[in-house]
Amino acid sequence: MMVWQMDHSGGLVYRDLFAYYQTHWINSLHLDSSFLQRYIKGRKMSNAVVIEAWNTVLFTKFTRFKYLFVEGYAAISEQAFERHPPTVGSKVLDVGCGFGDCTVRIAHLIGDKGLACGVDCASNFIQQCELLAEQEALKNTQFFVADVEVSDLSGPYDQAFARFGTMFFNMPSLAMKNIRASLKPGGKFTQVVWRKREANPWLYDAEICVRNIVPVVSHDETDAVHCGPGPFSMAGPDMVSDMLQAVGFERIQFERFDSEICIGRNVDEAIQFALEIGPAGEIIRLAGDEGVRLKGEVESALVDVIGKFKREDGTIWAPSSAWFITAFNPM
Ligand SMILES: C[S@@+](CC[C@H](N)C(=O)[O-])C[C@H]1O[C@@H](n2cnc3c(N)ncnc32)[C@H](O)[C@@H]1O
Repeated sequence: MMVWQMDHSGGLVYRDLFAYYQTHWINSLHLDSSFLQRYIKGRKMSNAVVIEAWNTVLFTKFTRFKYLFVEGYAAISEQAFERHPPTVGSKVLDVGCGFGDCTVRIAHLIGDKGLACGVDCASNFIQQCELLAEQEALKNTQFFVADVEVSDLSGPYDQAFARFGTMFFNMPSLAMKNIRASLKPGGKFTQVVWRKREANPWLYDAEICVRNIVPVVSHDETDAVHCGPGPFSMAGPDMVSDMLQAVGFERIQFERFDSEICIGRNVDEAIQFALEIGPAGEIIRLAGDEGVRLKGEVESALVDVIGKFKREDGTIWAPSSAWFITAFNPM
């Protein structure tokens, strides 16, 4: 059965249907990536808008709250590494590597004889990654700018890893197919993605609050750059496992991981975080002048929404829930 989902900008998106047909159609064609690149350009299905967003407005926002992401996400990926450790001496691809902290962690885990390669579509993020590797004097990291949906990923890799790096692909099955093609036979792909929005009040409660106040502008109704499908696009195990299987992965497993995540050192900071990051922030940004006009009203409403997550020391921690998804390239 097809499950219709609301995307973060409020439009009804037919992700399951789209991913299903996209996957089966693309798979049946056995095309090489240069053909696909030409096809996508020709059909105006290019990822340019999403890439521009990650390189500009989203890069700025994520940089502002980098300290929250680096610590908060590390707590989650440490669990993923504990359960699915990268093999010492192996070559590992970190997909959608962002600031590169996860790639650097992989580099430490695989040791000097391994190689941790971080790929991201946004050159601004890759510059940050290179600075970090330089600061840590690491010799076993490499970073490169590429669109994971269509570019050569410089494999073959023993393993691929993605911490919240796969949920923003416009054409996720193209990306999954390309990642599998970059793995050695038997290679393992571990993804960390958010589970359903209701299990992630750290993002979703602010989104509901904003939706009640700000008119939602869908991606189709605006020329503004946007982040792509959004943080919950890989939350459905049926759709995601169908997609992984259709592009050739096998032994697909989902493990649930629940934890509390810090979204601010105090209520004000958590409100600013909610207003800038995730679906709530995107709704306000895409609403343009109306978003600016209503921001004060949203801020007041968020005091209670955020306040309920306050700990005794004043810091704000809200429940989050992720999937650790593992899949293998056949031998
Ligand atoms: C939510 S961030 C996660 C970053 C990092 N993995 C982390 O855990 O902090 C998603 C990342 O995916 C990247 N990204 C989005 N679409 C991409 C694509 N088509 N190809 C490569 N990277 C992409 C973005 O630039 C961004 O850095």
